[in-house]
Amino acid sequence: ESEEHTRAILNTAVDGIITIDEHGLIEQFNKAAEQIFGYRAEEVIGENVKILMPSPYREEHDGYIERYLRTGEARIIGIGREVEGQRKDGSVFPMELGVGEMNFGGETKFTGFVHDISDRRELEERVRRSE
Ligand code: HEM
Repeated sequence: ESEEHTRAILNTAVDGIITIDEHGLIEQFNKAAEQIFGYRAEEVIGENVKILMPSPYREEHDGYIERYLRTGEARIIGIGREVEGQRKDGSVFPMELGVGEMNFGGETKFTGFVHDISDRRELEERVRRSE
């Protein structure tokens, strides 16, 4: 009941919400994330979150998580960053990423909040060109 309830709430969110375990494996992928990345939740649950990003992040992301778990030094958690995402069709887009950490009885999970900023970027480009 509670898990279903949580999923229902996550699915009403406007931003993409993705939860991963400490190995980077996707556990939850809400409706907005499906729309942003073009994957159905069933296709990505159990896959590594690195499939959602282009190189060189894709090759390095496991190392980013390992470094954080080892050192506790956050570079995105609680800070946020503009990064690039990659959709199922291969297209790359700018996104604002926020990451939070949760601990359940010794298990660490991370929640990513994803906001597609392609439209904002395009508008900025247009304004720059018209100046
Ligand atoms: C760290 C990129 C998605 C969880 C990082 C770093 C980069 C990055 C560059 C390391 C920053 C540094 O060392 O300077 C990306 C890109 C994504 C993405 C391009 C595009 C899809 C996600 C998502 C989650 C996540 C969706 C969680 C669900 C983490 C964690 C760390 C990390 C836990 C280590 C903690 C930290 O550095 O604060 N990511 N990431 N990432 N990312 Fe991602």
